[in-house]
Amino acid sequence: MSTPANAMGATGAPARPRNSLWPARLDLAQSVSGLILGLFMWGHMFFVSSILLGYDAMWAITKMFEGYFFFGSAYPILVSFVVAFVFTLFVVHAALALRKFPINYRQYRVYRDHMGMMRHEDTTLWYWQVATGFAMFFLASVHLYQMLMHPGLVGPLESAERVWRGWWPLYLVLLFCVELHGGIGLYRLAVKWGWFEGANPNASRKNLKKLKWALSVFFIVLGLTTLAAYMKIGYEHRYAPGARYVPAWLQNPPQAAPPSWWPRWLKGAR
Ligand code: HEM
Repeated sequence: MSTPANAMGATGAPARPRNSLWPARLDLAQSVSGLILGLFMWGHMFFVSSILLGYDAMWAITKMFEGYFFFGSAYPILVSFVVAFVFTLFVVHAALALRKFPINYRQYRVYRDHMGMMRHEDTTLWYWQVATGFAMFFLASVHLYQMLMHPGLVGPLESAERVWRGWWPLYLVLLFCVELHGGIGLYRLAVKWGWFEGANPNASRKNLKKLKWALSVFFIVLGLTTLAAYMKIGYEHRYAPGARYVPAWLQNPPQAAPPSWWPRWLKGAR
């Protein structure tokens, strides 16, 4: 009888079975990194969609991350620090996920046949999580690298110009990948660790699945609307490349007062 390749030692001799805590630790690390990234993405989508509330709202969010309202000047490098942290987490999460990818065509076929035979939604969802995760290796890395190196080029006009001048196809595909991947991932986390299980696990699982789809649809619709808003602004400013947004009350001379409903700490910084 042949011995499976992964049960062989480095010398080709059968490896001795060992009890190790590492598989469990790696699984936990993957769950924790996925959870942080999933929650980060919810925040990210709300921050990016602030453009739907107007130029000033998006400008204020951008400047807040650059420390403008705390230090009185904008330091885009602060954004780079956050990006570096998210990027590291992303790479760790992806590396941990690699353990679960089919490593050759045979394994892939076995999984596909199994999936076709089972017709079980959770098994199919896993497939889509792997496929979207694979796409994100490339798509999200490009976006993160851009944000890491050019953190100062974020703003109502700056972002709109980028989206309009060629980034929109990447964002469009990435949006679907991240929202499906994140939704499925958070659902699987809840099922795996028994969160919200309640007295009737079958009923809770059905509800969790509904919530998962609702969240994915909500964030995809929000993302598409946001993308459309950036495209519109980019189109309207297509003859003003490199324009930077300066709110009316910071122009010289000031053109208007800041929105009256803003808290004082938001209005004060110069
Ligand atoms: C700290 C890290 C990140 C920062 C600072 C950041 C920042 C931004 C900004 C400013 C935009 C608006 C468009 C632009 O200016 O180019 C954007 C859009 C987008 N980002 Fe990120 N991002 C980060 C991480 C991520 C990650 C990890 C993902 C996915 C894995 C992601 C997915 C997207 C998508 C899909 C859009 C388009 C949004 C839409 O459709 O409305 N971002 N991001």
